[in-house]
Amino acid sequence: MASFLEQNQDRFLSELLDWLRIPSVSADPKFHADVLKAADYLKARLEEVGVQNVELCQTAGNPIVYGEKITDPALPTVLVYGHYDVQPADPYELWTSPPFEPVIKDGKIYARGACDDKGQVYMHVKAFEVLMQDGELPCNVKFMFEGEEEVGSSNLGIFVKANKEKLKADVILISDTGMIANDVPSIEVGLRGLSYHEVEVTGPNRDLHSGIYGGAVPNPINVLCKMIASLHDENNHITIPEFYNNVAVLTDEQRAELNRVPHSDDEFKQSIGLPDTYGEKGYTTVERIGIRPTLDVNGIWGGYTGEGAKTVIASKAYAKISMRLVPHQTSDEITALFQRHFESIAPSGVTVKVMPHHGGEPVVTPTDSVAYKAAADAMEATFGTRPIPTRGGGSIPIVAMFKSELGLDTVLLGFGLDSDAIHSPNEHFGVFNFLKGIETIPHFFRNYAAAMK
Ligand code: BES
Ligand code: MN
Ligand code: MN
Repeated sequence: MASFLEQNQDRFLSELLDWLRIPSVSADPKFHADVLKAADYLKARLEEVGVQNVELCQTAGNPIVYGEKITDPALPTVLVYGHYDVQPADPYELWTSPPFEPVIKDGKIYARGACDDKGQVYMHVKAFEVLMQDGELPCNVKFMFEGEEEVGSSNLGIFVKANKEKLKADVILISDTGMIANDVPSIEVGLRGLSYHEVEVTGPNRDLHSGIYGGAVPNPINVLCKMIASLHDENNHITIPEFYNNVAVLTDEQRAELNRVPHSDDEFKQSIGLPDTYGEKGYTTVERIGIRPTLDVNGIWGGYTGEGAKTVIASKAYAKISMRLVPHQTSDEITALFQRHFESIAPSGVTVKVMPHHGGEPVVTPTDSVAYKAAADAMEATFGTRPIPTRGGGSIPIVAMFKSELGLDTVLLGFGLDSDAIHSPNEHFGVFNFLKGIETIPHFFRNYAAAMK
C-alpha cells in the first residue's frame, strides 16, 4: 500500500508552489507586504498540521514564525530553524521561467526560494504532518522560522537572547545546506563566518573631464581597483596583516580525511564553465571552500556605465567586499583588521571610508554527538548509503549564536545540491530532494528520541 507521503505528495508539492508564489524578498522594502504574507501562509500551514501555540513574534524587522508541540516535557526537544525570506531574483531576464511563478520541469521545482530555504522549510512542515499521521510524536518539537536570514539575522539574534526559556531545547535541526549528490548523501559539519563591508573612495570633489584633468588627479576607480588587487598576493594569499593569525591549522591527517570526500576538479570546472581552478596556493578545491578564509568583491561601481562613451573621472568609486571566515577567526576581529588595513593602503590623494555591514561567526558542528548519529542513521535509512561529513563554504550566522546563547549544537540536515543555483537565476530544488527530506526527517526524530531515552 502506498504510504501517506506517496498518497499526498502532489498536495505537498502544490502547497509549496503556492508559498513560492509569494515573493518574500527581505533585502528590498518593495516586497515587505509579501514577506508578511509568506509568514502568514507558513503560520496557517503549521496550525493546519497540528503545531500548537503558533504565533508571529514581532521584531524590529520581519516577524519570526514560532510554534511548538510539546508531547511530554520529559521527552527531548528538537528546535527546528529555517528561513522564509529569499534572495532578490535579479536579474529577471536570465530566468527561463519567472522566479515567482514556480514550475516543475524535469523533476525540478524552479522558483526563487525553491531550495533556499522555503522548499527545505516546507519539508519540515510536511514531515511533521507525516509524523502526526503515524501517531504520537517521538519527541517535542519547536519551530522557529525567520524572515531575515538573507539580510544577516540581526533581529533573530536579539530574539534568541531575549527568549532563552521559550527556546529551551536539546538540539537544533536545520535544513538550509546541501549534500554532495543525490547518490552521495552528506551532512555539512562546518559553516564559514562572514565579515561584509562597503567601501567608498573619494577623489576630486566633483566628476571631472578626463582630458582636462586626467593624469594629474587620482581616479578613484583606478585607485580602488589597485587597492583591491593588492589584497591578494601572487599565491592568492590575503595580504591583510594578522588576517591568518587565528585560523585553525588542520593536521595532515585531518586534511587527508577532508580530501577523501568524493570530488572531481574536472566536474567542478565543467559545472560552472571554468577553464581552470583558481585559489589559494597549496590547498585543494575542497580545502579552499571548507577550511580556508577568503576575500571577494561582490560588486563594484562608479563613473559612467551607460550607453556609449563618456570621458569622465568620477569623484567617487564603491565596492562591496566580503570575507568568509573559518575557526577561530571572529567577525569583529577581522572587521577591525580589514578596516585598518584598507584605510592604510589608500594613496594620499584620496579619502577612503569603510562601512561594515552584517557579520557572522564560523562554526564546526560535532560528528560524535547523539544528534549527528541520529541524522546520519536517518539518511542511511532513506538513501541506502552512509552520509559523509563535509565542511561547507556558506554561512548561517545564527548557528554560532545557538551555541553561544543557548548552548545548543546544530545538525545541518540539508538536501540541496550545489547545482540548485541558490541566489542565482533559475534556482531549483529536486522533487526527489523535497520528498527525500520529508521521508528522512521523521527518521531523525525517532532515532534521536530513542537514543536520548
Ligand atoms: N542557506 C544559505 C547558506 C548555505 C548555502 C550554507 C549552502 C551552506 C550551503 C543561506 O541562506 C545564505 O545564503 N547565507 C548567506 C549569509 C547571509 C548573512 C547573507 C551566505 O552564505 O552568503
Ligand atoms: Mn538559506
Ligand atoms: Mn541564502
